[in-house]
Amino acid sequence: MKIILTGGTGLIGDRVSQYLARQEYEIIALTRRAGQKSPHGLNLRFVQWDARSLGAWAQEVDGADAIVHLAGEGIFDARWTADVKQRIVESRINSTRVLVQAIAQAQQPPSLFVSTSAVGFYGDRKNEATDETAPAGTGFLADVCVQWEAEAQKAAQYGVRVANPRIGIVLDKNGGALGRMKPIFQAFLGMPLGSGKQWFPWIHVEDVVRGLLYPLENIRLEGAYNLASPNPATMTEFCAALGEALHRPSWSLVGVPEFALRLGLGEAADSLIRGQKIIPRKLIESGFAFRFPTLAPALEEIFQ
Ligand SMILES: NC(=O)c1ccc[n+]([C@@H]2O[C@H](COP(=O)([O-])OP(=O)(O)OC[C@H]3O[C@@H](n4cnc5c(N)ncnc54)[C@H](OP(=O)(O)O)[C@@H]3O)[C@@H](O)[C@H]2O)c1
Repeated sequence: MKIILTGGTGLIGDRVSQYLARQEYEIIALTRRAGQKSPHGLNLRFVQWDARSLGAWAQEVDGADAIVHLAGEGIFDARWTADVKQRIVESRINSTRVLVQAIAQAQQPPSLFVSTSAVGFYGDRKNEATDETAPAGTGFLADVCVQWEAEAQKAAQYGVRVANPRIGIVLDKNGGALGRMKPIFQAFLGMPLGSGKQWFPWIHVEDVVRGLLYPLENIRLEGAYNLASPNPATMTEFCAALGEALHRPSWSLVGVPEFALRLGLGEAADSLIRGQKIIPRKLIESGFAFRFPTLAPALEEIFQ
């Protein structure tokens, strides 16, 4: 089976390509980086694209079985200036649009398009149990996700099954949220952000990879589906578990005040101060089994 993967050089994409290659898939990884060398021993070939216009890469889409689309400018890599926000939006919309154009011109289009989204779709949900029936929220990230999913759904008109996994906060020792939090905790400075009462929709990276690829084996899964652990924790609970896993305290009575977060991070602080109690109902009902449904074993596996 031939899979087109975008964002394969990223945190999740690297894991996805290793997982697929172990199962003897052929992977074509689209990257903006020139001369990216294929890793030894994996059935993976890098092909260059600019993530916004058609080119020779689009021929790879013709005859492929599926596309897994992860590419996009990092959300928390920089303060959200107008320029950064534009890059966050455009990198997702333009790359998705050009993939749909490649699908449209293929003689043999892929049967499946997995195009990432995020739980940010729901905005701030306070204590509401949030499954896929909840409407979009408000705010920058919610708007990005709405546009991103709508662009991907345009592939359906070419007979392609489109799936939009709304990913939670991915836990992986190599980076992402834990990459930022771990050194702070190791320096005995760990504490919740904001009130600590907001929900933190975490998911172990191994379950993200398996959940992203689940539409490959479950042909009934389509549309948006939540990809976060079935047992979300509050920020305070998460920090306590992280402290325990790292044998460090979490100063839950202190906490980083909201005004300090806003001062440091600007508008991006809102997405840390607020949260969603995500229920991955569609995955559960379609028979998906999480390997790490609870937090302590997930963190233990990551830091072992
Ligand atoms: N990690 C999380 O906790 C999390 C949570 C929810 C949703 N997601 C979503 O899942 C996707 C993958 O996440 P990740 O953490 O693996 O991301 P990542 O490590 O930042 O990697 C994303 C990849 O996208 C490509 N990229 C970066 N900037 C781009 C731009 N301006 N235009 C086009 N491509 C660009 C890069 O590939 P090349 O340099 O090879 O082109 C990069 O390797 C993202 O869309 C992210 O929003 C992630």
